[in-house]
Amino acid sequence: MIPDELVELCKKRMEPYPCEGFVYGRGPVNPTLMVVGEAPGETEIHNGIPFSGRAGKVLNECLEYLGVSREDVYFTSSVRSRPYKKVGHKNRAPTMKEQIAHAPILDYEMEHIKPKQLVTLGNIGLQRLLGKKYTISKVHGQLLHSPIRRLMSLDTNEWVTSKEEYAIFPTFHPASIFYNRTLLKKMYSDLDILKKILAEK
Ligand code: URA
Repeated sequence: MIPDELVELCKKRMEPYPCEGFVYGRGPVNPTLMVVGEAPGETEIHNGIPFSGRAGKVLNECLEYLGVSREDVYFTSSVRSRPYKKVGHKNRAPTMKEQIAHAPILDYEMEHIKPKQLVTLGNIGLQRLLGKKYTISKVHGQLLHSPIRRLMSLDTNEWVTSKEEYAIFPTFHPASIFYNRTLLKKMYSDLDILKKILAEK
């Protein structure tokens, strides 16, 4: 659904950076939820399915808890290639330059998928859409209504805010619980709030 020219352009924009593979967003138009993650990992770049690795298993459990089927969710992320460390080839968080390189894809999805409810996972997805003044530790579990950031044009690093307001629910990235188990409880408290929000829609 994303035009091939846009994908090719964004792949080219990413060439200077240590990132590999390319994973398309996946899901229906007008989804119940649109999940905005960080970047795919090794599993995803091999099978092309977003959130199909270890973090995806945790996310599937979250969706089950919410009573939302994977078919009703559009899965995307700030960056569509896997950023890796030059030494050791391990996963790492995408840099701002990498997020800018792939920004036109997420901008396109926001415009065409028309999500009723966004769920950002971790700081990367949250700050990509709302800027650095938002941090996950402060706003997780809160329903925010706000315009979102989109790239002003292809030849700048400047963001502009969308005309439309979006409903945004930030929570932790499912992978973060591998490093900090105490976040799991907080994440499930957030899901209880999200469950009520979805029930009222
Ligand atoms: N994290 C993401 O943001 N996307 C994936 O596909 C997997 C992990």
